[in-house]
Amino acid sequence: MAKDEPKIAPPTGKLGVLLPGLGAVATTFIAGVEAVRRGAGLPIGSLTQMGTIRLGKRTDSRMPLIREFVPLADLDDLVFGAWDPIPDDALKSAQTCGVLKESDLREVEDFLSEIKPMSAVFSRDYVKKLDGPNVKKGSKKELAEQLREDIRRFKDENKCERLVMVWCASTEVFLKPGPVHQSIEAFERGLENDDPGIAPSMIYAYAAIRERVPFANGAPNLTADIPALHALARDKKVPIGGKDFKTGQTLMKTILAPGFKARMLGLSGWFSTNILGNRDGEVLDDPESFKTKEESKLGVLEYILQPDLYPELYGNLFHKVRINYYPPRGDNKEGWDNIDVVGWLGYPMQIKIDFLCRDSILAAPIVLDLALFFDLAQRAGMSGVQEWLSFYFKSPMTAPELYPEHDIFIQLTKLKNTLRWLMGEAPITHLGTEYYDDYYRDV
Ligand SMILES: NC(=O)c1ccc[n+]([C@@H]2O[C@H](COP(=O)([O-])OP(=O)(O)OC[C@H]3O[C@@H](n4cnc5c(N)ncnc54)[C@H](O)[C@@H]3O)[C@@H](O)[C@H]2O)c1
Repeated sequence: MAKDEPKIAPPTGKLGVLLPGLGAVATTFIAGVEAVRRGAGLPIGSLTQMGTIRLGKRTDSRMPLIREFVPLADLDDLVFGAWDPIPDDALKSAQTCGVLKESDLREVEDFLSEIKPMSAVFSRDYVKKLDGPNVKKGSKKELAEQLREDIRRFKDENKCERLVMVWCASTEVFLKPGPVHQSIEAFERGLENDDPGIAPSMIYAYAAIRERVPFANGAPNLTADIPALHALARDKKVPIGGKDFKTGQTLMKTILAPGFKARMLGLSGWFSTNILGNRDGEVLDDPESFKTKEESKLGVLEYILQPDLYPELYGNLFHKVRINYYPPRGDNKEGWDNIDVVGWLGYPMQIKIDFLCRDSILAAPIVLDLALFFDLAQRAGMSGVQEWLSFYFKSPMTAPELYPEHDIFIQLTKLKNTLRWLMGEAPITHLGTEYYDDYYRDV
């Protein structure tokens, strides 16, 4: 083992997964984990459960499952808790969201009906299209204290050894970093003064970090991506990350765009539009919440294509993203992409994509992997922003001087090399000259 590699504490005991938001994504995730535990389904889409990792040379034939290579918490050891302003238990919420079929829910209904949301830190100032009675009262500082008490009580009552928090709640209105976000002191003063720059999601993140609970953000909200919480996380030795689960259309973008760029094919336009009819779609129908989502979705191509380096290929790209709330489709989103491609001598071509996807079916395995990897990171002593988990996010958090890496293949290489490094295995560079040195020595 090299000397800079961390020692990893074993994943003993129960891991509590705390979810602000008990809507479509959260209930599909919880129901799915329970179904897998009962042998009623497969965890498709989860790298931690289904993925393998190559170790050593290509000729070594060492390809263990990731979950057998790194010490991850076992699915049987997961327990779930949530907060939501809507008081429905996980069964009722799953039925309302309508992602999973009644017959699938019936398999796990006893389990789901036991999960009742704790009262939420929620304000309509930050999510305009939603309301619910299950809400805490108090100043922002008091709300943070109440969340910290919830966290401690949950840990005690469920006899958890460790906890992680994954934000699965609605997208908040667009916020820009301001003075209150710049330092821990300014942030804590802001909590005392009820500063409007502190959104509910930031109060959850703050409470989690203070309780030394890793925090991952599945929505595009600013939340923990502010200097104050970056610093607090480092100070308290807590891993944090985000933002916005990479599912659906952006997943496709980060798969396709690196391919076009790899072959030096130009792009003159990329128009993306969606229809979806779930509660998330309704929340995003508010222009201020949509703005948060739009910023998160738009950045992807700019960073992958690097128009500054390739002005002839990508300098005039017209990129547009629309999301339209259309209730008849429920959670089954339809995403259309029209891509205007430019080839040899400037000849235009078009690609059309029609992705009939299921949003929460794509998001649920991401929640699982994030919970397990953030727990691993903490046991390995990794703290602050976890850029190696960018693979899961539309708008990855990084150190301020870095641009985010969006190319999904680079993200996967980074993730797997981090796992190799954690376990004392050599990183894989794909150089591979040694195979040919050996071959030509022998022929
Ligand atoms: N499904 C996907 O593919 C996907 C992809 C990327 C990001 N996301 C994000 O994940 C989040 C969840 O998506 P969803 O489809 O489950 O939405 P949803 O509307 O079904 O669920 C969100 C839940 O959060 C609750 N909520 C809102 N504010 C809260 C607060 N302050 N505290 C606690 N609970 C709160 C709502 O009452 C609701 O039950 C959204 O922000 C969405 O943008 C989803």
